[in-house]
Amino acid sequence: MYINNGDFMEYIDLKQSDDYSLLKKAGMAIKSCNLVLFPTETVYGIGADGLNEEAILKIFKAKGRKTDNPLILHVSNYDMVNKIAKNINDLEKKLMDAFWPGPLTIVLDKTDIVPFIATGNLATVGVRMPSNKIALKLIEYANTPIAAPSANVSGKPSGTNIKDIFKELESSVEFIVDGGETDIGLESTVVRVIDGEINILRPGKIRYEDLLKITDKIKIDKHVLNKVTDETSVMSPGMKYKHYAPASDCLLIYSSDEKKMINYINSIIPRYKNPIILTHTNYNYVCKTLNMGSNLEEISHNMFKTLREVDTYNPDIVIIEGVSKEGLGLAIMNRLLRASSYNYYEL
Ligand code: TXA
Ligand code: MG
Repeated sequence: MYINNGDFMEYIDLKQSDDYSLLKKAGMAIKSCNLVLFPTETVYGIGADGLNEEAILKIFKAKGRKTDNPLILHVSNYDMVNKIAKNINDLEKKLMDAFWPGPLTIVLDKTDIVPFIATGNLATVGVRMPSNKIALKLIEYANTPIAAPSANVSGKPSGTNIKDIFKELESSVEFIVDGGETDIGLESTVVRVIDGEINILRPGKIRYEDLLKITDKIKIDKHVLNKVTDETSVMSPGMKYKHYAPASDCLLIYSSDEKKMINYINSIIPRYKNPIILTHTNYNYVCKTLNMGSNLEEISHNMFKTLREVDTYNPDIVIIEGVSKEGLGLAIMNRLLRASSYNYYEL
């Protein structure tokens, strides 16, 4: 047990144990208007009762998040889905059947029971049934849909382990549930069906290629890879905000010709005093490097952790090796473009 601003915050360790009954009290805390930090298969979430305005406001306060940025409601069964969403069509049902429980958020028409504070005043609600057992049990015990954004203060990389986010969030929550490192490391794919077409609003582990199993009518929203500012009108408000960023300036470099990318990075290293390279090629640069992994799965698993780690070296520039925007690479580049504030150079 940790002392927290005079109150008690309780730590539940489920890294090795599968004694999910420990989650009962965390579920009760959710029901009584408190926040709980918990793992999902994608990233950690900071959760509150998704039907309780007061509880939801606590999330926005804890994260320093703008209230026009809607939250995802996490459910553990289809009764909950039908309670919070209406007019669900065949294509949306097919998406649920194919990808739930799992890392897919579907934007649906909301019912009256969902407070507008949860949806950034939109008439729609993002709904996701996670596959992580701890997350599912917590929702069951809370017996209410859990509103949960990624666990990080706004602007920072999403939390994929407790150590990375403990300091920035511990004073806001009643319980911390530690399930170890999250599997995927990237947040869920967010989609919305419009006129029989799947619109990808945020790419994730469920890739464009996976969605092709359901239909070939799929559109990748233009804001997934293009620069978005405060003034841009977007379908998913989260796309407007600075996200995933280390404290230092970042530069994202990509070429389909790996040698070209490495040569270019080598040529600019001398311009900086204390550069740091985030690599996946394993090339031996003459300065500090951090390895994100050597395939797309590993990169997605390690990326946010590495983007946080760079700050401990106080670099004057973070140079990031980009990846192809194919497959899972689309989600990785969507995050890296934002991490680098679109400071991107393709050769
Ligand atoms: O994997 C995830 O999705 C994680 C875990 C905790 O489940 N959650 C997460 O939440 O990433 P958050 O709040 O960090 O990102 C939610 C994204 C935002 O970009 C938001 O704009 C979008 O989903 N979103 C939520 N509800 C929406 C809605 N009704 N319409 C359009 N976009 C929505
Ligand atoms: Mg987030």
